[in-house]
Amino acid sequence: MSTTTDQIQGGGTCAELPERTLDRRELRDLVNDLAAHPEEWRDQVDFPADGGRHYASLYRDAYVDVWLLCWRPEDDTGWHDHDISSGAVHVVRGALRECNPRIGGEHLETVVPAGQSFSFGPDHIHRLTGAVDESVSIHAYSPPLWRLGQYSIDGTGVMRRVSVSYADELRPMDDPITSVA
Ligand SMILES: [Fe+2]
Repeated sequence: MSTTTDQIQGGGTCAELPERTLDRRELRDLVNDLAAHPEEWRDQVDFPADGGRHYASLYRDAYVDVWLLCWRPEDDTGWHDHDISSGAVHVVRGALRECNPRIGGEHLETVVPAGQSFSFGPDHIHRLTGAVDESVSIHAYSPPLWRLGQYSIDGTGVMRRVSVSYADELRPMDDPITSVA
């Protein structure tokens, strides 16, 4: 794992955000604006030679946090929610695969290519992986991530939630032998 805490200072896209929680539309506008200003994040893109994940905190205040994530196909968040936070994601390079769990059925799968974004509320449960090698995405959450729910689904379809810290690296919790995912 490789991280950096360098953050946008001064006149960046995040400088004029309102001092309150942002809704889904505002979060999507924010990640879209950031995607249009690569000078604010491009120096944070990195794919470590040791194969570890790389993510960078671009901005964090009392109301919103913004991350840049770099993805390889083996990077897998596992099933998770964002507790009380809404979020938005803009894919700026490559493509991400988003899956949503369907208990007792086939999970929903969507490939989000570069140039597209999506948003979600606190009710959203998903799993993200890199759909192609060396993909990059920008994520914004409001209120800032603090706790997340990490899920496992066992071979009988029973889903369980564990509360984790935003500082923990998300990873699959499914039993690899019995998983139906
Ligand atoms: Fe997520």
